[in-house]
Amino acid sequence: MRNPPTMRKCATSLEGEMTKAEHEFLLGLLRREKFEGAHLEVGTAAGGTLCVMMRAFDDATRPQFVVVDRMTYFPNQMEAVDINLRRHNLDPAKVDFRVAMSTTAFREATERGDTFDFILLDGGHKILNVMADLRWTRLLNVGGMICLHDCVPKFPGVKLSVDRFLAGHPHFQIVGQADSLIALQKVSAATRPEVSRLDRAYALAMHLPLLTRRKLDKWRSKRAA
Ligand SMILES: C[S@@+](CC[C@H](N)C(=O)[O-])C[C@H]1O[C@@H](n2cnc3c(N)ncnc32)[C@H](O)[C@@H]1O
Repeated sequence: MRNPPTMRKCATSLEGEMTKAEHEFLLGLLRREKFEGAHLEVGTAAGGTLCVMMRAFDDATRPQFVVVDRMTYFPNQMEAVDINLRRHNLDPAKVDFRVAMSTTAFREATERGDTFDFILLDGGHKILNVMADLRWTRLLNVGGMICLHDCVPKFPGVKLSVDRFLAGHPHFQIVGQADSLIALQKVSAATRPEVSRLDRAYALAMHLPLLTRRKLDKWRSKRAA
């Protein structure tokens, strides 16, 4: 049986799960770049960061925002996002919510021929999730940017995936970083798949060792407390 979803702080605070510096960095980037194509957030929690990003634009010039989330992060997650948007004078009906697992949403977006100018990846943090989510970069327009949250050693699933991705894809360049949020720009078109079978095999091989290490770390810190 699956555990019930945990009550997260953001479920009541409705705040984004990012630091002030990360939000300021995001805001600056979106205001500077003024991308007109669709903006995608994979993993929205209570929509705190979504509100920050949408408020980077005025109502007349705001591009399409797309949100992919399975909406099981805490009870009534979708309702919380809806309330949060309204509190920020943003219309939830204008957001294209895709309530689904990221892998399903990616397949459907690919079939529809969706493209994006900006992507924020902040969904599942396990290496298998992050490696799979990096496939969204295929739908990023040349010149567009992708941000990844929690790209630090504390989240090896994110860090290892991004490091491997950058090493194999020189057409993605780092444009900046604030705390754990890293921004990459797609400077030219891909010449090979962004996430290969070998990358998926690497993620699969690393999955169990990383999970075991995480459990051991948790157990050790519990014992030390
Ligand atoms: C860390 S939170 C996102 C925080 C948010 N970006 C913010 O700054 O406030 C992760 C979110 O990703 C979603 N998520 C995790 N794994 C997912 C998956 N495989 N497919 C779709 N959504 C997923 C969760 O439901 C949760 O809402």
